[in-house]
Formats: sequence, structure tokens, C-alpha cells
Amino acid sequence: MKVQNICCIGAGYVGGPTMAVIAKKCPDIKVTVVDINQERIAAWNDENVDNIPVYEPGLSAVVAEARGRNLFFSTDVDKAIDEAEMIFISVNTPTKTYGEGKGQAADLKWIELCARQIARVAKGDKIVVEKSTLPVRTASTLKDILTHTGDGLSFQILSNPEFLAEGTAVEDLMDPDRVLIGGDQTPEGLNAIQALVDVYARWVPKDKILTTNVWSSELSKLTANAYLAQRVSSINSLSELCEFTEADINEVARAIGTDSRIGPKFLKASVGFGGSCFQKDILNLVYISRSYGLNEVADYWEQVIIMNDHQKRRFAKKIIKNLYNTVSGKKIAFLGWAFKKDTNDTRESAAIYVADHLLNEQSFIETYDPKVKKEQVYTDLDYLGSRSSEENRKNLTVGTDPYKVCEGAHAVAVLTEWDEFKTYDWKRIYDGMLKPAHVFDGRNILDKEALRSIGFQVHAIGTAD
Ligand SMILES: NC(=O)c1ccc[n+]([C@@H]2O[C@H](COP(=O)([O-])OP(=O)(O)OC[C@H]3O[C@@H](n4cnc5c(N)ncnc54)[C@H](O)[C@@H]3O)[C@@H](O)[C@H]2O)c1
Repeated sequence: MKVQNICCIGAGYVGGPTMAVIAKKCPDIKVTVVDINQERIAAWNDENVDNIPVYEPGLSAVVAEARGRNLFFSTDVDKAIDEAEMIFISVNTPTKTYGEGKGQAADLKWIELCARQIARVAKGDKIVVEKSTLPVRTASTLKDILTHTGDGLSFQILSNPEFLAEGTAVEDLMDPDRVLIGGDQTPEGLNAIQALVDVYARWVPKDKILTTNVWSSELSKLTANAYLAQRVSSINSLSELCEFTEADINEVARAIGTDSRIGPKFLKASVGFGGSCFQKDILNLVYISRSYGLNEVADYWEQVIIMNDHQKRRFAKKIIKNLYNTVSGKKIAFLGWAFKKDTNDTRESAAIYVADHLLNEQSFIETYDPKVKKEQVYTDLDYLGSRSSEENRKNLTVGTDPYKVCEGAHAVAVLTEWDEFKTYDWKRIYDGMLKPAHVFDGRNILDKEALRSIGFQVHAIGTAD
């Protein structure tokens, strides 16, 4: 079967970039990305491609090339479903905030709505592709809804989890380590798998396209994120030990990373991982394991989250301790709010939790991030519900000039590893600050010795002060 029309439901950080790259690589396939969020779709259609809602290096150029040719962004979900032979579901699957499984299970209400909408609209057979990260066995729920409400049509459900990393999404999509496609091992299921393999095979070498049964594919995505997050928590746990023993976490990471069995990636100690996926997907794994009565498995993975929360809290406490045990009325400048560099995504960013802790201690915070908008910072803080939104606006301000943001501060805290922070005129920053001037490097990106020679008191993750 040759796919000519693809629809993707969900124009977010995954749907947008993924479909833009498919459209670029397959100019003969019409790709329509739909969303119920009108503002988001309008931003994807903005004449100036610098205003698209997702910031990713290289993405604007890809959108500029394909948009209007074979890439379309629309709010007409029904029409796009009707036209497509293959429908990707790329909607959000956040952690549940209510009811059974609150705080752990994935909230699948948006997934279910998509399935019901596809069943209602479809007039012909469809291949439905799970692009969202889902709990293992979700495909059976989708199949159930589609076959019971879908007018006797045939629906094949594939799992095709996305492994892109924000900040390098375009690079990862153009040259993925692998593409994973899971489906039913029946003749119809294998045909559907082949149809999707044929799409990716336009630019991904065949040996990098892995096919499995649908359950292995669903579980592999949760497992990949759990392993990655576990590496971060492992190195972060040792960073605390380094601070007490005068071992240096950067040296330890280099020493173990050269072991080919361990490898050098994901060994950077930091203020803790953020992003919309790691925490949610591990909590999901924990929840599923517990639901099968596998308490040891659940406890094992839950510890990765416990360690990460500890790391964020520990960083805030370190700031307070070094500012003579009180930050009340003191200004602290934050460099970075995004959860990592080269993205404007702030979901679960460590900066939010560190700021919340310091605001509870009555400090005053001024932040600067090269890509995050002011309203987003306040949305993140207000979401926590720790204080009124008026108080958040009074005690935290968002600046656009990093030098002004640091002026009059007792301390500068680096929360995101943006490259530009390394190249600042740190002497100028020092001159404008109150003394003693502290730098808390939550990402280990600054030159400690250079800063010390300027006069800063430097505190970095995983090294003794
Ligand atoms: N962000 C990542 O780096 C990443 C990486 C891999 C996988 N994932 C997974 O991909 C999925 C999507 O993540 P995201 O970061 O793109 O989320 P997102 O919140 O940025 O985007 C989801 C979009 O879906 C839309 N939506 C929700 N319900 C809808 C409906 N019924 N009809 C039409 N549109 C609807 C929302 O309006 C939103 O714009 C999640 O399951 C996530 O776990 C994310």
C-alpha cells in the first residue's frame, strides 16, 4: 500500500518537527498537521517562519521549504482525518492530576478523544500510528474503541514512538539512530508496518528501521527514557558525594565515560533533568509495574525520580546556605529557564522548582532566558499554585538583558546550559553585583578558575567549593 496522505493530530514539539521532516523528505506525500489549539496552528502558519511555536535549530528552514507545498497546518481535524490513509496521533499524554493513578499514570483522555474522532469521521480503512508516548498495551484500547465505534471499517494500529531530543530534533529526525515500528504480527498488521517502513525508508537506511510487535515497541519508548534519566540521576547522586570528598564529578565522568561499556553520553552532572518526558514516562513505568504487583520493579525506577527531586532541592538549599542561611529580600539572578539549551520548552524545568523554593524563602528573582517568553515563566510558576499570581509577578521579574538582570544581585545561578552564558563579560557582571558575589553553576559550563580570579565565589555541581 502506498501512502499519499498523512494526517497528524497534535502540532506540538513532536508533531510539528516530525511531520515537517517527513514532508521535506517525501515531497509526493501530502502531510497535514492538525490541532484544536487555534493559536498554535496560526503560529505554525505565520508568514515569518521565525515565529513558529517550536524553537529548534534548523526547523524554520525545513518548514519554509515544505509549508504550502506538501506540508499544511490546520484546525480542520475532521477533514484531515477523512483525507488520510495514515493518521499519526501525537497529542499530549501528561501525568494524571486527578482520580485513580493521580501523580503517576498517564492521562489518556486526549488519546481516547482522537480515537473516537477517527472512528466517527473515517469512511475508509485507516492505519493509526501511535506517535505519542503511551503505556504498554494502549494499542488494545485504541483498537477496542475504533472497532466498536468505527462502522465496520478496518483499523491497523501501529506504535512508532519518537526518540528525538528537543534541542537537536531536526538533526535527530533527519539522521535517527533507529526508527521503531511495532504492529500486529498478522498479514494485515505486517502490511501496515510495511507501509510505514516505506515512508521512513526514503531517507533512513533499512537496517536502522526496526520492526517489532506492538507491545515491545510501546514498552521500548518508556524503557529508553527510563535508562536515560537513570544515567542522569546516577551521576547526580555521585555529584553530591564529590562535593564532600574533593573528588571532581567532571573528572569522574571522564574517567568512567572512556570505558566503552559505559560510554561518555549522559554523564553530565546538573541541577537535575527536566522536560516533559523523563519524569512522566518513569512515573508511568512505575504505575504500570505496581498495577501488575511488581513492587520491586516499581521501587527501583521510582528512585530515579526521588534522586532528581533531591538534586533540584539540594541546589536551592546550597544557594541559601552560602548566602548566610537567608535569601529573604536578596536578589538572585537566574540565567536560563528552559529545561535545556536550544529549546524554548520549559516543561518540568529545574529552574521552576529552584525558583519556587527560593521564593518560599522570600528572595527576589530576576530571570533571563534567550528563548523563553515572559508569560511562559509566569505560567510555569502560577501552575505550581504555591502563591498568588500577583505575588509571583511581584517577587520574580523577567529581563531581556542578562547584564541588567545580574545587576545588584547577591548571586547568579545558571539553570540552563545555553552556550552564550560562557561568552559573557563576567568581569562586567561581577562589577555590577553586590559583594561577595556568588555564582552557582547548575550546569558546570563556566570556567571556575577564571571566575575565581575575577573575585567570584564559585559553587559548581559536583566539586568542592
Ligand atoms: N517533547 C518531546 O521531546 C517528546 C519526545 C518523544 C515523545 N514525546 C511524546 O509525544 C507526545 C506529544 O508530545 P509534545 O511534546 O509534542 O506535546 P505538546 O503538548 O507540545 O503537543 C500536543 C498537542 O496536541 C494537541 N491536542 C491534544 N488533544 C487534541 C485533539 N483531540 N485534537 C487535536 N489536537 C489535540 C494539543 O493542543 C497540543 O498542541 C507525548 O505523548 C510525549 O510524551 C515527546
